[in-house]
Amino acid sequence: MAPPYLTRTIDRELDELMPLAPAIALDGPKGVGKTGTARRRATQTWLLDLAEQRALLEAD
Ligand SMILES: Nc1ncnc2c1ncn2[C@@H]1O[C@H](COP(=O)(O)OP(=O)(O)OP(=O)(O)O)[C@@H](O)[C@H]1O
Ligand SMILES: [Mg+2]
Repeated sequence: MAPPYLTRTIDRELDELMPLAPAIALDGPKGVGKTGTARRRATQTWLLDLAEQRALLEAD
């Protein structure tokens, strides 16, 4: 079972910024939780490191 999600400073910042910004990039060292932090807020997800999903976006 996955460990519980720990709320971090970035979550508070995202609560404030997401209603205002059309896009937000999360940048940080490997494995710090960028994908997990973003994914739990997303209603739809495209993983652009997967070639077939990137191709869908490029075709649009
Ligand atoms: N806020 C959090 N609380 C607890 N665990 C977390 C949290 N954020 C991420 N994790 C866990 O940490 C691990 C790495 O998270 P994640 O894959 O989101 O990192 P990442 O920054 O996207 O990594 P990469 O640089 O490899 O893309 C995962 O096991 C995830 O479940
Ligand atoms: Mg990631």
